[in-house]
Amino acid sequence: MVANASSPPARAHWSSRTAFVLAAIGSAVGLGNLWRFPAEAGANGGGAFVLIYILCVALIGMPLLLAETLIGRHGQRSTIASAAYLARESNASSGWALLAVLGVISSFLILSFYSVVAGWVLSFIATSGGDLLGSIAAGQPLAGAYANWTVEDIRQQMPDLFGDPWRMTLFHFIFAAATTVIVMRGVKGGLEMVAVWLMPAFFFLLIGITLYSAIEGDFAAGAKFLFQPDFSKAIQPSVLLSALGQAFFSLSLGGAALIAYGAYASRDSNLGGSAGLISFADTAVAIIAGLAIFPIVFSVGLEPNGGPALMFQTMPAAFHTMPAGAIVAFAFFVLAFFAALTSSVSLLEVSVAWLMERFGMSRAVASFGLGAGFFLIGLASVLSFNVWADHRPLPFLPGFENASWFDAIDGVTGKIMLPLSGLITAIFIGWVADRKLVNPETGLSPRLLPVWRFLIAWLCPLAVALILLFGLFPQLLG
Ligand code: PHE
Repeated sequence: MVANASSPPARAHWSSRTAFVLAAIGSAVGLGNLWRFPAEAGANGGGAFVLIYILCVALIGMPLLLAETLIGRHGQRSTIASAAYLARESNASSGWALLAVLGVISSFLILSFYSVVAGWVLSFIATSGGDLLGSIAAGQPLAGAYANWTVEDIRQQMPDLFGDPWRMTLFHFIFAAATTVIVMRGVKGGLEMVAVWLMPAFFFLLIGITLYSAIEGDFAAGAKFLFQPDFSKAIQPSVLLSALGQAFFSLSLGGAALIAYGAYASRDSNLGGSAGLISFADTAVAIIAGLAIFPIVFSVGLEPNGGPALMFQTMPAAFHTMPAGAIVAFAFFVLAFFAALTSSVSLLEVSVAWLMERFGMSRAVASFGLGAGFFLIGLASVLSFNVWADHRPLPFLPGFENASWFDAIDGVTGKIMLPLSGLITAIFIGWVADRKLVNPETGLSPRLLPVWRFLIAWLCPLAVALILLFGLFPQLLG
C-alpha cells in the first residue's frame, strides 16, 4: 500500500472554497441533467418521476454527497486510499475501501459511453454551427435552425449519425482527447480552470435558453408535464430504481468522483454547506433544463419521448420552426458540451489519481494511458448502434436481457454499481467509521448533525437496499 497511515502525501488543493464548490458542481451538472434527466422523465411519465427524483436527491443523495466528500477530505489521498485510511483509523477492515474500488471501476466505465454521447453533442455542434454560419452568410441570422432542410432530414440526422461508426468514433475521439488533456494539466491548471470558466458560461446560456423557451414555447404544457404527477398509475418499482439511479448519476455519487474532489478540499471548506449547495444546484439545473426543453417540444406538437431522440431529434426539429432557432440550437449544443466536459474530467480524475498514487506514475502517463483505455472501451458503445446492434452482452442478467453494449454499460453502472457503492458508503459512514473523526468533518450545526446521522445510518442504506432489490427483482413483489 502506498497510503501511509501517519502522514498524507503532499497533494494539490483547489485555490479556494469557491473553486471546490464550482468544480464539484461542474462534475455533477452534465449530460445527466440535460440528456439523461429529461429522457428518464419522459420515459417514466413525467411528474411522478420528478417528485420521486427530488425525494431521492434530498433524502439519499445529499447525505451521501456529504459522506463522500468527507471521506476524501479526511484522507487527503486518492479515493481508494482515502476510504482505506478512514477505515483503518476507525479500527475497521480496509476492505471497506471496496466502496471506492467500485467507484473507480464505475467512473471509468461511465466515461467510456459518456464520451460517446458527448461526441454526438460535438457532431451536432458541427452541423448546427455550419447551419448558423450559413444563415448569417445569407443575411438571415434570426432564421430557424436548418432553415432549408425538411423536417424529415432534420430527424434523420440522428439515425444517420448512429449508422456511421466512423463519424461517431471521430467525435468520441475528439472529446476523449480534450478530457485527457485537461486532466493532464492537473488540479488547478486543468480541473479547476475548466470549471471556473465553463460553469458560469453554462449558467448564462441555460438561463438564456430557458427564457427563450418560456416566451416562445408552450411553458404551461411543459411545466404541467414536469410537475403534475399522475397518481392514477401505480408507481412501479422500476420507476423508483430509475429515479434513484438518476439521482446517483446526476449528483456524481457512487463513482468516487466526489471523494476525489473532496481530497483536494482544504480544511476551511464547510463540507455540509457545500453538499447542500452542490445538490441544490444540480437539481435546479435538471429542472430548469426540463423547463427549457419540454415547452419547446410541446409547442411544436411533438411528444416527450425517452432516450437520445429527445435531445438529438425532437429538439433540433423544434428549433427548426422557432424564431432565431439557428442561434438557439447552436447555443444549446455548446451548453451541453461545456457541461459534459466539466463532468468527464471528474470521471477521469478518479482513476488517474489512483494510478498516480498507487504506482507512483506521473500525471501525464496515467492520464494518457487511461484516456486511451476509455476511448477504446467506448468503441463498444459506438458499435452498439450499428455494427454490433444485435449483440446482447448480458442475456443472463434480469432486466438486461435485451440491452446492447451501450445500454448494458449505462444500466449496470447507473442502476447497480453506483447505488451499491452508495449503499456501502452509507453503512460505512453511518455505522463503522469513528464518529469522533466523521462528525467534525461535516461542519454541520448541532441541530442538523443528528438529522444527517439518521439519514446516513438508517434511511440511505434501507432505501437504497430496498430499491435495488425490488428494482432488479420486481417479481419479489408478487
Ligand atoms: N454527474 C454527471 C452528469 O450528470 C455524470 C457523472 C456521474 C460524473 C458519476 C461523475 C460521476 O453528467
